Amino acid sequence: MKIVLAYSGGLDTSVALHWLRDRYDAEVIAFCADIGQLESVPDVRDRALRTGASAVHAEPLTDRFLADFALPALQAHARYENKYLLAAPLSRPLIAQRMVELAHEVGADAVAHGATGKGNDQVRFFTSVTALDPTLKVLAPVIDWELGSRDDELAYADKHGIPVPVGKEKPYSIDTNVWGTSIECGELDDITLPPPVEAWQLTRDPRDAPDEPARVRIGFVEGVPVSLDGVELRLADLVRQLNDLAAPHGVGRIDITESRIVGFKTRGIYEAPAATVLMTAHAELESLVLDRETLHQKQGLALRYAELVYYGYWFSDLRRALDAFVATLQPAVTGEVVLDLYKGGCTVVSRESPHSRYNRGLATYEAGDEFDHRAGAAFAYVWSLPLTGGRTA
Ligand code: ARG
Ligand code: SIN
Repeated sequence: MKIVLAYSGGLDTSVALHWLRDRYDAEVIAFCADIGQLESVPDVRDRALRTGASAVHAEPLTDRFLADFALPALQAHARYENKYLLAAPLSRPLIAQRMVELAHEVGADAVAHGATGKGNDQVRFFTSVTALDPTLKVLAPVIDWELGSRDDELAYADKHGIPVPVGKEKPYSIDTNVWGTSIECGELDDITLPPPVEAWQLTRDPRDAPDEPARVRIGFVEGVPVSLDGVELRLADLVRQLNDLAAPHGVGRIDITESRIVGFKTRGIYEAPAATVLMTAHAELESLVLDRETLHQKQGLALRYAELVYYGYWFSDLRRALDAFVATLQPAVTGEVVLDLYKGGCTVVSRESPHSRYNRGLATYEAGDEFDHRAGAAFAYVWSLPLTGGRTA
């Protein structure tokens, strides 16, 4: 048997690698998706080999992740339950897709992941893999094995000489990539308490942030962020630089009690500095360039889009159809937005676009008002007819 395992180099997937080999007498190919979270690819590769992987495929996937997954979600303004920017759920279909492709290349019978049975991720891996190839088995060793606790896993690792990642173990479950970081478990499970200050991984506490705002200017061409402060950048560089700029100002934190796919609610905290700034800026431009009806329709669909991403329905016709709707509107989303990053906030200070629908002559209450007030009053009368049936004084 041949198994492609999504391998992060952490304790769970290291033990999983060895356990799969033993349990299925299998050849395990470690697949390592680098989406901006890995400190050292050579270290992870080395650890996988020393744990018994027959091969390691470490792939730089940041560009593909941003272009094909994060960007469509940005343009759709996807925020699950109006808050969560979905960094982890957006990465799962990409990891699944690459695992399926790799399984086909190497002739594997199964793919495997290190998610637990009570989480969203195991659902997302399963839905994504099986949507792409329903004949592949999806193995979840963490669900199947008898190791009940972290100590059991450490004992297993010790017994089998599995190299365990060094460094201080964090008392949280953390998942991170270039689009954002999620932090769950431990003390965060007490929803009556604020997150411990040390739980945050990327951003500075807004109370300790600089007393002066950082002003940033984001340029968009057809819905794609292309420049930062007038300097043209590749999307990955723009996102990294913006993360570095916004994190010290405490921008992009959320604390949410979210509705999991598997039914119960959990508390998580998330940090997505660049994604927050970019979505604020993109939404500002759209409110300038889209007509009212289209804008409102799109705002309604944003929540639906976020649900699909969260639910693990990336490879669905509905997600593709919503992407097509969003894509037809992007040609107008060109222009610049200036924002101030200050003490956890991200505030728009100016916006402009060649496709702007803002007409100052119509909007102004000062001299130069071009709006026909009588036409406005006549409109009000006609607009009231459905309510009054024409019975007005
Ligand atoms: N609850 C979040 C979500 O479903 C975070 C998942 C992060 N995964 C992890 N292994 N910590 O998107
Ligand atoms: C897990 O339980 O494996 C991580 C959290 C999640 O998937 O929601």
